[in-house]
Amino acid sequence: MNPPSGAPLAFLDGPGGSQVPQAVIDAVTDVYVTCNVNSHGNFPPSREVDRRVHEARRVVAAFLGAADASCISFGQNMTTLNYALSSAIGRSLRAGDELVITALDHEANRGPWLRLAERGITVREVRLLESGELDAADMEAKITARTKVFALGASSNALGTVNDLGLARRLTRSVGALLVVDAVHFAPHFPVDVQALDVDFLLCSAYKFYGPHVGILYSAPGALDRLATDRLSTQDSRAPFRIETGTLNHAAIDGVRAAIEYLASWGGGASLRERIVDAMNGISAYEHGLAKSYEAAVRALPGVRVWGPGFATRSRAPTVSITLENHTAAAAACRLGDAGVCVWDGNFYAARALEVLGLSDRGGLLRTGISMYTTTEDVQRLLAGLAALA
Ligand SMILES: Cc1ncc(COP(=O)(O)O)c(C=O)c1O
Repeated sequence: MNPPSGAPLAFLDGPGGSQVPQAVIDAVTDVYVTCNVNSHGNFPPSREVDRRVHEARRVVAAFLGAADASCISFGQNMTTLNYALSSAIGRSLRAGDELVITALDHEANRGPWLRLAERGITVREVRLLESGELDAADMEAKITARTKVFALGASSNALGTVNDLGLARRLTRSVGALLVVDAVHFAPHFPVDVQALDVDFLLCSAYKFYGPHVGILYSAPGALDRLATDRLSTQDSRAPFRIETGTLNHAAIDGVRAAIEYLASWGGGASLRERIVDAMNGISAYEHGLAKSYEAAVRALPGVRVWGPGFATRSRAPTVSITLENHTAAAAACRLGDAGVCVWDGNFYAARALEVLGLSDRGGLLRTGISMYTTTEDVQRLLAGLAALA
């Protein structure tokens, strides 16, 4: 689907979704060819579906550093799983209890919690600073003995900020609150270790890390079993099934397994987990270098302002958002798109963050995402397009 000019496509839209390797396409196809039947039957293709879904849970557990497959639930996407999670947690809350969200988060980790305000639960919001970072002092002030849940993103899909999850855990532990982490933008760029982070729940989405559209929920051992989830009386009430509804997308789930094994193939080590961590460290370093050099070059263009924290630390996702003095983000994205350079414009559902930064009425941001397959040439084409606009 190349532009009329015939130029090749440069996919710099990774924070919105990534391209998939052939191994993922093959895995999805293979399910339809060999075992396109429902799960839990006593006949060979059905047993094969059960085996593949279990194997996918095991591989996702390795990807996230989870204890085992029982910690991994699947769903349609992160948003749907987070609605299911927040509803279930909400049933255990009473009027006067408090939840804390942030001004930086994607709406998928705000809306499901804000909805609980209808039931008399107070929702507090951690302040976002002009730098694109959360206000740590405000976080400390907002998490109190009344806090039952802190829902926080690991990394911002709009500004590339990486949040201080260690602080979030210390604060929530000290008051006995649950920590729910949205790792959708973090997981494609950094190794995740749910046990080291000590989170209660963590969500991510496979289409952001080279897999199909499948949402993933990690629950700490025992955490899901305590929740009053929406489920049929016929559904297995144990983790990880307790929050899953209806028939899963078996083919896509096998594709998630293939995506993670593809990532692992870029790393070394004796175990799958070691190969994943090694690969993610390598991907992280590569993406960081490219994003850092792009950020320095784009910052030097006349009329360009770069938003979000700087690249001095490695704790920065390779996602760079800018505004241009003489063009809206949409106009710039259209011109770049016509030349085959795919970048996003707007608020990327991080609407509250853009509102706080005063960008909502100015057409939002122009966002470049560096992915593992981004090349120096892709970035140069983007810079040439932006230089022509500036
Ligand atoms: C940071 C972040 N959280 C949540 C979501 C929602 O994910 P999903 O599309 O799987 O519902 C996105 C999607 O862009 C995101 O970037």
